[in-house]
Amino acid sequence: MRAHLSILFVLILPAALAAEPAPEATNASDEKAAVDVAQLYETKCAKCHELTPVAERTYTPDEATNLVNEMQAKDTQWISDEEATQIATYIAEKYPKG
Ligand code: HEC
Repeated sequence: MRAHLSILFVLILPAALAAEPAPEATNASDEKAAVDVAQLYETKCAKCHELTPVAERTYTPDEATNLVNEMQAKDTQWISDEEATQIATYIAEKYPKG
C-alpha cells in the first residue's frame, strides 16, 4: 500500500509542478514586451533630441498619437507606423493627462 502511494506521488508531483510556471511565463513575456517598448521609445525618440521635452508634459492618447505622428513625419524611414502606434500608447500610459 505504501509503495503504491509513493508511486502516485511521483506521478502527481511533477504534473503539479509542471502546471505552475504557466502564469509566470505570461507575466515574464508581458514584462519583456514592456521593456522592449520602453527601449523602442528611447531609441526612436532620442535620435534627434533629448527625451526631456516629452517627459515634461502629460498626454491624452490622442495627443500622444499626434505628437508621435508629427515626429514620425520628420523621418518616416526611422519610425514605422507600427512603432509609432506602440510608442504613442507607451507615452500616453507613462505620462497620462489628469
Ligand atoms: C528625425 C528627428 C526626430 C525624431 C526621430 C524625433 N523628433 Fe521630436 N523633435 C524633432 C525636432 C526637429 C523638434 C523641434 C520642434 C519641432 O519641429 O516640432 C522636435 C521636438 C519635439 C518635442 C517638443 C515639441 C514642441 O512642440 O515643443 C517633443 C515633445 C518631441 N519632439 C517628442 C518626440 C518623440 C516622442 C519622438 C519619438 C516618437 C521624437 N520626438 C522623435 C525631431 C525629431
